[in-house]
Amino acid sequence: MQHLIIYAHPSKKSFSCMLKDRLVKESLINGYKPIVRDLYQMSFNPVLSSDDLDKIKYGNVSDDIIIEQEYIVNSDLITLIFPLWWAGYPAILKGYIDRVMSYGFAYKAGEKGIEGLLINKKVVLLTSMGNSIEEYEGKNLIGAFKQTLGHEIFYFCGMDVIHHEFFQQIPDASEEIKEKYSNKALKFYNSVWFEKV
Ligand SMILES: Cc1cc2nc3c(=O)[nH]c(=O)nc-3n(C[C@H](O)[C@H](O)[C@H](O)COP(=O)(O)O)c2cc1C
Repeated sequence: MQHLIIYAHPSKKSFSCMLKDRLVKESLINGYKPIVRDLYQMSFNPVLSSDDLDKIKYGNVSDDIIIEQEYIVNSDLITLIFPLWWAGYPAILKGYIDRVMSYGFAYKAGEKGIEGLLINKKVVLLTSMGNSIEEYEGKNLIGAFKQTLGHEIFYFCGMDVIHHEFFQQIPDASEEIKEKYSNKALKFYNSVWFEKV
């Protein structure tokens, strides 16, 4: 089993980085081969260009995108780890989705409308943030984030979003709290390792 971890944070001092490192170890222990795509470290080019759009029309993509698509095709489980920035993905991750989840690879127009092509893949999203969950719940935004950052993208492409966890008030959290949050996140994966979801 292959576990693709798409990681979008520029700092090694971040909570997101700690979560990524712990998830890599936990995957190995549980028999999943972790592959980390560290978008900042790779200097991933997030700009969908005119050339990209022309290629997509003919069912082609750039060489850097073929590599990313192969990782997706060969993975059973995909985790995205990212901070919430301006109520969305960091731009580098948004650009990864723009370029990698391309027409003809991730979805296509079939006889019955749009068909997702990436079936039998589980997706987990882990999102750190500055605000409290309560504040966002009060604005009905947690459900909206789950929809726009998860379902509208991954279900659309035929994948199963099995979990989206938010980690609140991270800039003010103690090491103890961060440890507690990461333990909770990793606990969820027990249901994945043992195929209960
Ligand atoms: C550019 C930028 C935009 C941000 N926008 C939001 C936001 O919309 N909502 C929020 O709750 N926190 C926001 N934050 C705070 C981050 O989400 C928070 O610092 C981060 O998740 C902490 O976790 P980390 O240690 O993994 O970076 C923003 C931070 C930055 C740098």
